[in-house]
Amino acid sequence: MLDMPAIRAEFPILTRQVHDRPLVYLDNAATTQKPKVVIQAEKHYYEYLNSNIHRGVHQLSQQATDAYEASRESVRALLNAPRTEDIIFTRGTTEAINLVSQSWGRANLKPGDEILVTHMEHHSNIVPWQMICEETGAILRPIPIDEMGVLDMEAYASMLSPKTKLVGVVHVSNALGTVNPVKEMIEQAHAMGALVLVDGAQAVSHLTVDVRALDCDFYVFSAHKLYGPTGVGALYGRQSLLELMPPWQGGGDMISLVRFSGSKWNHLPYKFEAGTPNIAGGVALKAAIDYVNNIGLDTIAAHEALLLDYATQRAKAFPGLRIIGEAPGKVSILSFVLEGIHPHDIGTILDMEGVAIRTGHHCAMPVMERYKIPATARASFAIYNTIEEVDALFLALERVQKMFRG
Ligand code: ALA
Repeated sequence: MLDMPAIRAEFPILTRQVHDRPLVYLDNAATTQKPKVVIQAEKHYYEYLNSNIHRGVHQLSQQATDAYEASRESVRALLNAPRTEDIIFTRGTTEAINLVSQSWGRANLKPGDEILVTHMEHHSNIVPWQMICEETGAILRPIPIDEMGVLDMEAYASMLSPKTKLVGVVHVSNALGTVNPVKEMIEQAHAMGALVLVDGAQAVSHLTVDVRALDCDFYVFSAHKLYGPTGVGALYGRQSLLELMPPWQGGGDMISLVRFSGSKWNHLPYKFEAGTPNIAGGVALKAAIDYVNNIGLDTIAAHEALLLDYATQRAKAFPGLRIIGEAPGKVSILSFVLEGIHPHDIGTILDMEGVAIRTGHHCAMPVMERYKIPATARASFAIYNTIEEVDALFLALERVQKMFRG
């Protein structure tokens, strides 16, 4: 049994009120709240270590560098990547995908090449590919999903061809909660000579990720959905690919030599890390990973599964409610629509009750298009949520219905 009061006490924000009601925070897929250890790690960095990294001979700079590099190692361990040098710090998932699409894409794509992405990607794993396709003449093709929100693996197999150069797949869908069969997809893509980028933004806080077992070519995630700070994330890349990829941004730290006659690039990972990064965020990411490891991802996943099961049962019994996304084994996300009530109205009324959910297209407009709906209401769960909070959600939904139906 989890000690829920102790877990919740780690998150200062959970004690606040919203519209004079206790906050019920169910918007964890957008960003998770931060435990004291993460907040403290950022504070400690600015109070005791603040200085620029990789540049100074003075002690502060060396200690800041050590803290930042220790975080890189903890990201490596989180993903079970073979080498710390293959972990590139970025601003988050979006920047990591842009890095790959701009650097690898510009160097490797030609007219007629194909990039496959799933119909359930969020915009970060669609738009960067559209941009590079426009530049290179490559073609972006969506892999269909069925009514339950399950990827059509037969369609995927039939779409793979020697023209496929890369497959972009979300590990866990932010709009539906679907967990995609990424290992199988990677095997099939590799058999066709294509690379695979896995978007782990919604996965790393719910599933154990092992990039070696998956054998993926790129894996990306953001710290802020893993109880860590905003503005920092990571890209894991296969060494042989990263070595050949050109830098995508120029500036300090990514060079080994600069002359007006030309510059030489730094070795991995710094070749892809131009300029002063979010050092405090990077340092605090380690605190977030330690926090998750101390509880255990399996424990977190089991708790969230309990909440999702209970919420799903309540949703199924709720008049006029339709769940969007019912893939077997899905995690942590309950997306739904209420007949005749716009999700934005649901979100606004819930907010007045202190219940924070996300409403809208969830940065995944093609998913909404697939289901022929403008938006959904989405409750998403994290380690600090409780059964009582699920009850508060449904009590607030009853109020919504009363307001609209009298
Ligand atoms: N992609 C984030 C979400 O799902 C912002 O809400």
